Amino acid sequence: MKVNMNQIAIYPGSFDPVTNGHLDIIKRAAKLYDHLIIAVASNMEKKTPLFTIDERINMLREVCSNLPNVEVDSFKGLLVDYAKKRSASTLVKGLRAVSDFEYELQMALTNRKLNPDVETIFMMTAFRYIYLSSSIVKQVALVGGNTDGMVPPLVAEKLIQKAKELGRE
Ligand code: PNS
Repeated sequence: MKVNMNQIAIYPGSFDPVTNGHLDIIKRAAKLYDHLIIAVASNMEKKTPLFTIDERINMLREVCSNLPNVEVDSFKGLLVDYAKKRSASTLVKGLRAVSDFEYELQMALTNRKLNPDVETIFMMTAFRYIYLSSSIVKQVALVGGNTDGMVPPLVAEKLIQKAKELGRE
């Protein structure tokens, strides 16, 4: 029987900003792996982020400060290259509704094609966070809505500040 020592996993994403849905996956994944690296994508193809890479990293570090085997880092370029550099053989992804499936399947298969040694593991989002996404949270916050219960309190405060800075509240 092969026993895998020091299993390192990567939980990648934009985290713009981290939500309670992300945090739930982080806490559960941290129990399954010896070391969990939260890898914040610094080159986002999708669109300009609301929070800078440093702001996103700092929020994640603060909300994960009670999880000793969790590290927050950033990466550029291909995720599988970053995984190899960090000796991680597993990518953890959260799955919400069916709508996530197609895109996640495409990413998982692309990553497998690029490096078959890196496996993608999906964790189902907790039911109470099934509707949550960073985009929805930003939509609510930027027009002055209350994001309590959707994001950690520290992130809710940062969203209020951002809305003020942008003159959107
Ligand atoms: O939180 P997101 O925006 O859904 O995260 C997407 C992310 C950052 C995991 C994905 O875009 C990614 O892995 N980007 C790195 C570039 C890469 O490796 N692309 C090939 C796989 S599709």
